[in-house]
Amino acid sequence: MQIKLSPSILSADFANLERDIRIATEAGAEYVHVDVMDGHFVPNITIGAPVVKALRKATDRVLDVHLMIADPDRYLDDFISAGADIITVHQESNGDTLAQLQKIRAAGVKASCTIKPGTPVEVLFPLLPYCDMVLIMTVEPGFGGQGFIPACMDKIRAVRAEIQKNGYACELEIDGGAKLNNTADIVAAGADVIVAGSAVFGGDIAANVKGFHAVFAEGVQRAEWSK
Ligand code: DX5
Ligand code: ZN
Repeated sequence: MQIKLSPSILSADFANLERDIRIATEAGAEYVHVDVMDGHFVPNITIGAPVVKALRKATDRVLDVHLMIADPDRYLDDFISAGADIITVHQESNGDTLAQLQKIRAAGVKASCTIKPGTPVEVLFPLLPYCDMVLIMTVEPGFGGQGFIPACMDKIRAVRAEIQKNGYACELEIDGGAKLNNTADIVAAGADVIVAGSAVFGGDIAANVKGFHAVFAEGVQRAEWSK
C-alpha cells in the first residue's frame, strides 16, 4: 500500500513555483496539487489553465488539478489541453458532475470528484465507478493554512468502506489541514493521497516532504482497510 503526497502549491512561493516544485518532487512528492479558484465558487482567486500549462513544462510529475470553480463545463477543455493528469470537480459546482467526469476520462485524464465539508458523503457513492480518484475536503475550500475539521474523519472512513466493498480502483485523497501530527490518523482512516500545503511549503520543503513519508508508514500499519 503506497501512500502518496500531493503538495499544494497554494502555499509555495508563486514567484518561484518551478524551484519549489523541484525541491518537493526531488524530495519524493508523488503528485503536485494545483488549487484553481475563481472568486465565485470560493471567496478567493488563484490561478488558471495558463499556469497549469506552464507548470506542465516545468515538471513531469503528476499534476493534480483541483477545480474550485462555479462552471467546470466552461473550462474543462482548457485544463485538459493544459496538461493536467488528474482533474477534480466539485459535486456542488454547476452542471452534471457525472458528465464532467466522463468527459475528463474520455480525454485520457484521470477523473476525480469532491465535496465540501458540509455536503453529505453519500452523494459521492454513485459517482465512484466513474472516478479514478475521490477527494474529501477536510477544510472549507478557499484558503490554505486552516485547521483539519475532525468531523471529516468519518467521511474518509465511509468512502474507504465503499471503495473496498465494491472493489473500485479509486484513490482516496484528502485536502486541508494535514500536518505531520495528524496524518497517521488520516491514513489509518482510509486516505491514500495526502494534500498538504502549509505543512510542506512553510519551512524546509525537502525535510517536510520526507517527514510526511516517514509518518505514512505508521498510518498504514494501523490501517485495517489495507490488510
Ligand atoms: C483549500 C485548498 C487546499 C489547501 C491546503 O481550498 O484546496 O489544497 O491549499 O492547504 P493546507 O494544507 O495548508 O491546509
Ligand atoms: Zn486543493
